[in-house]
Amino acid sequence: MSSTQSRYHGVYARWKADPEGFWADAARAIDWIKPADKTFDPTAGAYGQWFPGAVCNTCYNAVDRHAATRGDQAAIVYDSPVTNSKRTISYAELKDEVATLAAVLQDMGVQKGDRVVIYMPMIPEAAIGMLACARIGAIHSVVFGGFAAKELATRIDDAKPKAILSASCGIEGARVIPYKPLLNEAITLSAYKPDACLIYQRPQCAASLVEGRDADWQAEVAKARQAGRRAECVPVASTDPLYVLYTSGTTGKPKGVVRDNGGYMVALKWTMDHFYGVEPGEVFWAASDVGWVVGHSYIVYGPLLHGCTAILYEGKPVGTPDAGAYWRVIAEHGVTTLFTAPTAFRAIKKEDPDAALLKHYDLKGFRALFLAGERADPDTVKWAEDILKVPVIDHWWQTETGWPVAGNPLGLGALPVKHGSPTVPMPGYALDVLDEGGQSVGRGKMGTIVVKLPLPPGCLPTLWQAEDRFRESYLATYPGYYNTSDAGYIDDDGYVWVMGRTDDIINVAGHRLSTGSMEEVLASHPAVAECAVIGVKDSLKGEVPCGFVVLKSGVRQNPEEVEKELIGLVREKIGPVAAFKLAITVPRLPKTRSGKILRGTMKKIADGEAWTTPATIDDPVILDEIGDVLKGRGLTH
Ligand code: COA
Ligand code: AMP
Repeated sequence: MSSTQSRYHGVYARWKADPEGFWADAARAIDWIKPADKTFDPTAGAYGQWFPGAVCNTCYNAVDRHAATRGDQAAIVYDSPVTNSKRTISYAELKDEVATLAAVLQDMGVQKGDRVVIYMPMIPEAAIGMLACARIGAIHSVVFGGFAAKELATRIDDAKPKAILSASCGIEGARVIPYKPLLNEAITLSAYKPDACLIYQRPQCAASLVEGRDADWQAEVAKARQAGRRAECVPVASTDPLYVLYTSGTTGKPKGVVRDNGGYMVALKWTMDHFYGVEPGEVFWAASDVGWVVGHSYIVYGPLLHGCTAILYEGKPVGTPDAGAYWRVIAEHGVTTLFTAPTAFRAIKKEDPDAALLKHYDLKGFRALFLAGERADPDTVKWAEDILKVPVIDHWWQTETGWPVAGNPLGLGALPVKHGSPTVPMPGYALDVLDEGGQSVGRGKMGTIVVKLPLPPGCLPTLWQAEDRFRESYLATYPGYYNTSDAGYIDDDGYVWVMGRTDDIINVAGHRLSTGSMEEVLASHPAVAECAVIGVKDSLKGEVPCGFVVLKSGVRQNPEEVEKELIGLVREKIGPVAAFKLAITVPRLPKTRSGKILRGTMKKIADGEAWTTPATIDDPVILDEIGDVLKGRGLTH
């Protein structure tokens, strides 16, 4: 489609001319208990507030209203190659499951405004748990299963949950990973202690329960069901938090991204048809995890708000059992739209470069592939286009925004594709690119991508109980703008190019991680004098962390042994998801004369990119030393 055939430009212009009218119209797609007093209040919150005065319930909009009109339609299809099981839950059944679990939560003392941490594998009960919280106005905080006990403890201490929902185990490929020991350890480590834990017992591994604190999920639900207990939807303010989702910040302390109810519903519902081009009743699959923002927005809330069937897949793109797994799921469940991270497609391409397995499946109903979570490299996009012969759409967003900042809006008519660019800003986002002094750099020039305030509905209003940190992290550097901390440029056609982070965040297999927090772990080892962690190029995961450490003088331990211990330490303190497998001892770290470690130059050396010796360097020879060490280990590209 040419640029003039798409409705995008008209829709974006309409939003720009009248943002409040635009979002007031979009809000009509939501059922409100009480409509908003006004669409936007510029005087409230850190940068204004959407839909103040409105009263609503997100679970009602995602479940109950469809149970009434499309009760027999599948709401969630659980497909788990790792346990060889499948389950279809209709909207009517989902309503009953959610209302029952919500009643159990109420019996556990959970009330509106209380936090509930959810530490669960990819089973339907994770989504049911989220919706049950939404139903009673409790604020859920889902923690990804690949994090270690210490990370879970940090989140428990910050969120102070009344209760925790968890399961006996997760399953990673062929491995069963008991969750309960991690949960127990996290509660031991945390200063704050939850009142109660509800544990879903999976057949692959039984968890022992702590008396007086833990209860058996299935038994409690059965009891509530027998007693006919069902919780009704509790009215909440549109501006009340629906959830807190922790994401990597620039320190070891994660940021608790707050999401409200009303604005989030409006934004997600709008994206389902206008951006993803999906109709109610169609099958939408986000192959992610409920522990990430993609899981919140597009495994659970977005598709359900729109009356779609959501796929909840417990498996990997490869190895469960092979690189045809995604094609099987698409064909078997009639998926129209798949959303995943580019890394998943790199994994499939590596195993099955000619996509021979695709020939076994009929993908006739499949319409589009959406990629996000990391930069979609042109090779991967082209490969996906070639084999699937459907639009492959890169879109850019962040945990903070909750929905795409930029993308190619299939629902409005796709614009011409430029490989490597996530296309154009969505209505709601007025983007600019600024230099360090806060001046707009103009078209085609690199700088920090910013969003002119206010952020649209659905984006974070603040950080959980940390308004100052919110202002400092996102609003202070460029007054009047939200700082995305992504570097990039906007070209002459208005296409956005997102090239990398301006801070110490790296993206490993689409998972967002802080190198700063890894440095904190390395520095805690008694043999380490100083260290630097950088993200280095990886053909599968996009980037992987690589730690450079200088040992304290007088350390007698063998450097290889220290390196092994450091790898173990990051796994123990942050979790396997960090994929920290490269620790390298070096004699010295390259620094500027003022003592700043030259991480950027080290990264260029490791990635095999052209680099120049910074004028401010203290001792240029050290850069050659680093290059030699990397070469010696076969690590340069
Ligand atoms: N619970 C416990 N451990 C987990 C986990 C979980 N929920 N999720 C991941 N892990 C572990 C993995 O087993 C692995 O451990 P290992 O080092 O012992 O092998 C480690 O964390 C790293 O996991 P991952 O980055 O997923 O690597 P992988 O090698 O297992 O798989 C891909 C690589 C590319 C196949 C996989 O990352 C993938 O499918 N990614 C695309 C989809 C996606 O999740 N995107 C996220 C945002 S949209
Ligand atoms: P997360 O909060 O985990 O969603 O990670 C957000 C970060 O991932 C962004 O700030 C970007 O650095 C990166 N990212 C996500 N999607 C894209 C994309 N389509 N192109 C480039 N970078 C992306």
